[in-house]
Amino acid sequence: MTHLSLKPLADLTDDELAAAYAPRKEPWLRVNFVSTVDGAAQGPDGLSKSINNAADKRVFDALRVQADCLIVGAGTLRAEGYQVPSKPLVVVSRSGQVPEGLRDAPDGRITMATVASASHLEETRASLGAENTLVLGEHEIDLHALKKELADKGWVDQLSEGGPHLFGSLVAAGVVDELCYTIVPRLIGGGHLRILAGVDIDVALEPVSLLEQDGTILGRWLLS
Ligand SMILES: NC(=O)c1ccc[n+]([C@@H]2O[C@H](COP(=O)([O-])OP(=O)(O)OC[C@H]3O[C@@H](n4cnc5c(N)ncnc54)[C@H](OP(=O)(O)O)[C@@H]3O)[C@@H](O)[C@H]2O)c1
Repeated sequence: MTHLSLKPLADLTDDELAAAYAPRKEPWLRVNFVSTVDGAAQGPDGLSKSINNAADKRVFDALRVQADCLIVGAGTLRAEGYQVPSKPLVVVSRSGQVPEGLRDAPDGRITMATVASASHLEETRASLGAENTLVLGEHEIDLHALKKELADKGWVDQLSEGGPHLFGSLVAAGVVDELCYTIVPRLIGGGHLRILAGVDIDVALEPVSLLEQDGTILGRWLLS
């Protein structure tokens, strides 16, 4: 049985924080989420921006700094209006359509992971280039192949920022190494998404660390 103690996030320098979240092997795929204590992964406005806070932002940013690439579901990119981020962004989409704010990204900054049956495949190939358009299945994306293709590009520290349906697919495929999960001290009720959606699974987690700041708890768990 693992016994963890809650450590103050504020006691860690940026270097110590980076060390606390170091990947354990290559490739390493981690997923980062935030929710309220009652499990809502979306705030009252339907977005995660309205539930995150300074402590969550510090770890969110530290994970981005470490990452070689970001892997994000098209639904989250559309909902949150992602602009071109500082790290290469892999869009996961069955439709294969590049979300609006990302269409004028510099060459190579956006990679599309999609399927042969995607309705927007040809326009996406034309705009991103065939080398940045990964077709990884007929109707469903082979997520093992995705992890490997990204590692083959040299992107071994892979960070998924969600959303819940993509997380469900990644866990069901058995490709997630780690969950980084922040719980903010709020209750919001309502019918909001939890951090994992779309599949019935039962996966054991191995806790690694717990940090705390102003009642916000930031955990790190491994998936076996
Ligand atoms: N609390 C948090 O930390 C956090 C993090 C991220 C997102 N969110 C919130 O979650 C909400 C969005 O939830 P969501 O579950 O809809 O997000 P999502 O998983 O990012 O989006 C679903 C869409 O992504 C694509 N997708 C997901 N899994 C796929 C797979 N296995 N294969 C192919 N395409 C796949 C599909 O795009 P196409 O429709 O283009 O085919 C699908 O319609 C937003 O409100 C966002 O703010 C919260």
